[in-house]
Amino acid sequence: MKIDIVSLFPNFFTSPLNESLIAKAVQNKILEIDVHNLRDYSNLPHKQVDDTPYGGGAGMVLKPDVLAAAIKDLRREGSLVILTEPTGEKFTQRKAAELSKKNHLIIVCGRYEGVDQRFKDKYVDTEISIGDYVLNGGEGAAWVILETIVRLVPGVLGSEASLGEESFSVSRSWEGKEIQTLEYPQYTRPEVFEGQHVPKVLLSGNHQEISEWRKNQSLIKTKKLRGDLLTGTDQ
Ligand code: 6GU
Repeated sequence: MKIDIVSLFPNFFTSPLNESLIAKAVQNKILEIDVHNLRDYSNLPHKQVDDTPYGGGAGMVLKPDVLAAAIKDLRREGSLVILTEPTGEKFTQRKAAELSKKNHLIIVCGRYEGVDQRFKDKYVDTEISIGDYVLNGGEGAAWVILETIVRLVPGVLGSEASLGEESFSVSRSWEGKEIQTLEYPQYTRPEVFEGQHVPKVLLSGNHQEISEWRKNQSLIKTKKLRGDLLTGTDQ
């Protein structure tokens, strides 16, 4: 999979790209990730990328021509263009799974004040928000989106064995519906920590019982913390 990120703050991505599991996947050519400075696509003398809003008001708006120049340079057959946008579709594990099947993503980091609507209409395939709160820039959101997607690409994690069990994977049936559940609680050594014992079933060696206990714990935890996942009021 190839991912191009377009940002006014390309250095934001330097450290995470060099120090994560993702760096390994890039080395192994499973992923190709490039970060591009939006400013490089401006033809204006001072490399201007934004301007004041028509109709007045506070803040600056990213110029459609500069954004479009970046997309025209980077896109190819089958590319999907994502814009980070607080008013966009809420990002979910389901959306990440869908996007992880694409060959080429272009993630454009928006700015909170705004992006010219004409660029969105003509060049953007999907606007994504990571939650109901506001960040100044889309860089943090872009990293969240990227990391969630690429760990689902085969070969990026050392082992994919645990992907089906982790929180939010759509893997359970509940009253006839596909549901998402939170992961069951985990324990490791020591067997007794500050007076608290590891649940006995986990020491039993009985894999069937362990599996049933985990499924049950997973449901109990989901009901307690995220009842919305069971009643279908999430996205
Ligand atoms: Cl995608 N961008 C910004 N600026 N703020 C956000 C967001 C995105 N998602 C949640 N808040």
